[in-house]
Amino acid sequence: MECACDALILPFTEGGAGLYSRLGRSSQRIIHRVFSREFNGKSNEVLLIPSPEDTKPERLLLVGLGKGDKVSAENLRQAGGKAAAYLRDMGMKRIALSTSVISSLQLSPVDFVEGAMLGHYTYRKYSKEKNKKGIKGITILTRTSKELTRKLAWTRTVASAVWFARDLVNTPSNDMTPSHLAKAASSIKLKNLSVKVLEGKDARRLGMGSYLSVAKGSDEPPKFIILEYKGARGAPLVLIGKSITFDSGGLSLKPSEGMEKMKYDMAGGAAVLGIVKVAAEFKLPVNLVGILPAAENLPGGSATRPGDIVRAINGMTVEITNTDAEGRLTLADAIGYAKRFKPRAIIDVATLTGACSIALGSEAIAMMGNDRGLLDALKKSAEETYERVWEMPLFEEYREYVKSDVADIKNTGGRTGSLIASAYFLSEFAEKVPWVHLDIAGTAWLEKERPYMPKGASGVGVRLLSNLVKEMK
Ligand code: BES
Ligand code: MN
Ligand code: ZN
Repeated sequence: MECACDALILPFTEGGAGLYSRLGRSSQRIIHRVFSREFNGKSNEVLLIPSPEDTKPERLLLVGLGKGDKVSAENLRQAGGKAAAYLRDMGMKRIALSTSVISSLQLSPVDFVEGAMLGHYTYRKYSKEKNKKGIKGITILTRTSKELTRKLAWTRTVASAVWFARDLVNTPSNDMTPSHLAKAASSIKLKNLSVKVLEGKDARRLGMGSYLSVAKGSDEPPKFIILEYKGARGAPLVLIGKSITFDSGGLSLKPSEGMEKMKYDMAGGAAVLGIVKVAAEFKLPVNLVGILPAAENLPGGSATRPGDIVRAINGMTVEITNTDAEGRLTLADAIGYAKRFKPRAIIDVATLTGACSIALGSEAIAMMGNDRGLLDALKKSAEETYERVWEMPLFEEYREYVKSDVADIKNTGGRTGSLIASAYFLSEFAEKVPWVHLDIAGTAWLEKERPYMPKGASGVGVRLLSNLVKEMK
């Protein structure tokens, strides 16, 4: 009652009106009047009501959590996201959260706050209607503890990295070229973190013919970006993010319908930048390398032709049967380069195939790899963060799909099984190194908003892999 704010958030379970005994009579009376009429406590339901004279918060926001025995951390995140986006749109600046119902459910208010932090994101950089509305802060009404403070600090670090990644992905390709992406990487200035950018000529000297073949059709110079965060000794974990700043398909040109969305083909790279930022900001005790083989895929006069054969960094020759399967060409050399670090494992994150979103929609990341322990660790992290993964097989029989008559391998295997064929192609470059491939083509961009994700860039991968890296022994 004494909390001065624009709106106090009161979470409710379905049908569970009456847990706010500290609110004062008149507020309780209002709540009872609306309960089971305008408001039921159903999942993600919101109702904003003006508060009575004797209550300091200007307004009360009732938020539904759903059935009491079923409320999960994810339900809290969603309710938090819905509440924050709603209050932002209503022009509220200072908000507060009552935690008594959340605590009575043995859940943590931090999950609700995480949803709120993720959910009130907007991207208005290019529109007249700038981000005038915005929540300035959220006060959590609860007893503090060391654990709560630490959890909150983590959540804030991760959420801000998700915003960072979303901003990069939402930026149109004319302002998010490989050079811009390199600049964004170099702008992360943190202790124990170094950023190096290889130019086209460096890549040529290293023999990255596969990667360079993608950049050839564009006037934008490629930038091979390497981030090293040394929070511990020992073999590093290498994270590779597909970083095609625009994918026209090259000479195997995409249809114009929906081509504008291909600015999000660097979402893997953006996620990797976000994760490295989290690790360095939170000073995690890990040795981490991030690689972004950035390039633009255009059909210019010197573009790679279908049928061309190029040589990758590991000496393998690749027949390019389709210039629109460019992501794997850049990742092949990135994986080859990653091996120089003698990594304990490699994880790549990529908007690699349309077939991924055909198979799984926007509900899960497609996952394939060669190391059971790493695959299982990712499954666990996916359950914890609700950035879900679904494993697909990598049967040896898929080798046939990428067998070339004229080179060591070819970059496409036709329409059927193309989600797996793309991963199989990568596996040939990872060889014996523990490796997992995450296809985020279906999850990195949302056509419809979700409770804590706006339309457009989702920032997927940041939470999944930050959590993995944090838990890594
Ligand atoms: N970037 C695309 C994959 C993609 C498609 C991501 C739709 C997000 C939404 C990738 O480079 C691509 O074009 N893949 C081709 C591969 C094919 C030529 C074997 C595809 O999936 O159609
Ligand atoms: Mn493509
Ligand atoms: Zn692509």
